[in-house]
Formats: sequence, C-alpha cells, structure tokens
Amino acid sequence: MKNHRIAVIPGDGIGGEVMPEGLRVLEAAAGKFNIEIEFTHFDWSCSDYYLKHGQMLPADWFETLKPFDAIYFGAVGWPEVVPDHISLWGSLLKFRREFDQYVNLRPVRLMPGVPCPLAGRKPGDIDFYVVRENTEGEYSKIGGMMFEGTERELVLQESVFTRTGVDRILRFAFELAKNRPKRHLTAATKSNGIAISMPYWDERVALMGGEFPEVSWDKYHIDILTARFVLTPDLFDVVVASNLFGDILSDLGPACAGTIGIAPSANLNPDRLFPSLFEPVHGSAPDIAGRNIANPIAMVWSGAMMLDFLGNGDPRYRAAHDAIISAIEAILVDGPRTPDMGGRATTVEVGAAIAAAV
Ligand code: NAD
Ligand code: IPM
Ligand code: MN
Repeated sequence: MKNHRIAVIPGDGIGGEVMPEGLRVLEAAAGKFNIEIEFTHFDWSCSDYYLKHGQMLPADWFETLKPFDAIYFGAVGWPEVVPDHISLWGSLLKFRREFDQYVNLRPVRLMPGVPCPLAGRKPGDIDFYVVRENTEGEYSKIGGMMFEGTERELVLQESVFTRTGVDRILRFAFELAKNRPKRHLTAATKSNGIAISMPYWDERVALMGGEFPEVSWDKYHIDILTARFVLTPDLFDVVVASNLFGDILSDLGPACAGTIGIAPSANLNPDRLFPSLFEPVHGSAPDIAGRNIANPIAMVWSGAMMLDFLGNGDPRYRAAHDAIISAIEAILVDGPRTPDMGGRATTVEVGAAIAAAV
C-alpha cells in the first residue's frame, strides 16, 4: 500500500471552514478503500502567516512542498487587509506557475436535486468541462506604468502566449474530448478584437484539431460564448480557454448549474514532475466567512478529483472517487443543504452527512 503525502493549505475565510469537511470525507473514503494518506498542515494565509511575517509564504516554500504528492488548498484572500494581487500572486498563482500546473480542469455539472436558475434544465443537460490554460495568457506581471501621477499616466499590461503553452493545453483538451460522450470541443476566442494573440490561438486550435479527426470542434468569441452558456449549455462537452476566459467561464458555468459552492477544480501538472493542486473554484467569501454556512461540496469534490489523480488509473482510487461523487449526489437529492442551495444546514452538517454516506 502506497502512503500518499498531502500538503493541506486551508487559507482564509471559508477556506478554513470547508477544509475540515473535505478532510473528513477524504478520511472516510481512504478508510473504506484502504488508501493511506498523510496530511501535513500549513498556515499559509493572509490572516495567519502574512500577518506574522509580511509575506504569504516562507522563502523555502518550493523545496518544502515539492516532495508532496499533491496540495489540497482552500482559498486565499482577505482584501480588506491584504490587496488581492499581493496575496494571490504571493501564493496560489506562484504554485500554479512554479509547479507548472498548466491545466486547470473544472467540471460543470447540473447535479440531481440542485435548483437550476436556467428554466427547464434537468440533470444531464449541463455536463461539460472547462479546460483552462493555467500558467500564461492574460495573467502576467509584464508591463508597467509611466508618467505616474500625471495626466499622461500610462499603464501597460502584456499577455503571454507561447506555442508550447497553447499547444499543451489544447492537446489536453482534445484528448479529454476524445473520451467524452459528445466527442466535441469548443474553443473560446476573441479574434475579432484581440488582434494578435487570439488569431494565433485559433490557428493552433485548427492545427491541433487536425490531429484529432474523431473530435468535432467549433469556436465562439467569448462574449457570445457566455450567452450560449446560459441559453444552450447542453451543446458543450469540453470548452478550452485561455487563462482569463477560462476563469470567467468557470464561475459562469457552475452558476448556471446552480451554485459555485459545489464547483471543484484540479490544477494539474499532468507530467507529474511537480505536485498538482486541488481546490474549490470559489474564493474565501469574506461576506459569509465565520458563519458555518459555506457549502463544503466544492472542497469535497476537489478531494475526490485529487484521489483519482493520485491513483493514476488504479481502479481502487477510481472507486474511492466515485464513492465520494455518489455520496455528494445522494446528499444533494435528499440531505441537508446550505443556504446557497436554499437550505438551512451548516457547513459541518453537510460535510458530516457526505462522510457518513461514503
Ligand atoms: P468568492 O468566490 O469568494 O465569493 C463570491 C460569492 O459566492 C460570495 O457571495 C460568496 O459568499 C459566494 N460563495 C463562494 N463560495 C461559496 C460557498 N462555498 N458556499 C456558499 N457561497 C459561496 O469570490 P470573491 O468575493 O470575488 O473573492 C473573495 C476573496 O477570495 C478575494 O480575496 C479573492 O481574490 C479570493 N479568491 C480566491 C480564490 C482562490 O483562492 N482560489 C478564488 C476566487 C477568489
Ligand atoms: C480562480 C480564482 C483565481 C484566478 C484568483 C483568486 C487569482 O479566481 O482560481 O478561479 O483568477 O485564477
Ligand atoms: Mn476564478
């Protein structure tokens, strides 16, 4: 039996509330399927580490985390005290980049029992993946300011698209689409307005599409794509997007499927040279923090994705993943629910119910 070492970073706000529920469910699943996991906790957040040290991470964070098999991450951000670009570029975005987690895989699924804000939609109608490029694109620190404080003040912020970076995310998305029910890929673009990077992206999509004759593909400008998420979500199977477009689509998709409180994500280094990171799509939600009402399902589902990735094809891990998803489904149909889904249950009640169902 292999012993997996997981770095646990609960972070800020509701991160610290949903994390114990994620761990509770992982422990239940690991116990049931005889998987040995060892958790090591790190207090790397705004509210803890930053207040004490004036930075988000210790200098040796890379060497400290590298030997771990995965990172289980809650959420970081306390904007009243630490500007978001400082806290996020000081932690999460560093992990994604320096551990080369170039895939951000974000399932979007309308689950049985979840009230859907789109009229007439039932489970099965919304079931796709957003595959988000996670290390380059519009997220960059290249640029600067000139003539600061004057009328001529000028701000420049560059985007970065490399052939390697674009091709590897497209290949991952096409490979995923190949094994999906509709075998269909949709590329987000904006080649009408963003006149250099997006035509380049389109060109690489077309070339990659040529390597996957079994996958049908199309592309939409990001503006109309957001409208289609609302109007015709049943058309999608795998949606591949640049870093920023993928960020936007992966909040919009889960909102169309009921609540961002259940949306999970996997920040993957598919080559397994570095640890991958598993976290909810949502943030630290300062508006509801400290009230024990956050939905823990995104955290729990992210844990299931982590088990599946750790197993690397091992059926026992797949079974553990499936058991967690079935438990989530059972609770959504007929169990306690948090206020974001119209219920009155607490974070802990929902977490405990899922763990018991596993
Ligand atoms: P957010 O996702 O934290 O919250 C958006 C809205 O969704 C809020 O009304 C919140 O109450 C609600 N919500 C989020 N998660 C929920 C849950 N599990 N259950 C019920 N309701 C939930 O986004 P924001 O308000 O834009 O950001 C707040 C902070 O979190 C900022 O500092 C931001 O930078 C940070 N953030 C961090 C991450 C991350 O660490 N991965 C992701 C997004 C935002
Ligand atoms: C996400 C978040 C992050 C992102 C923020 C917190 C930097 O919104 O994981 O979706 O933009 O990637
Ligand atoms: Mn986001």
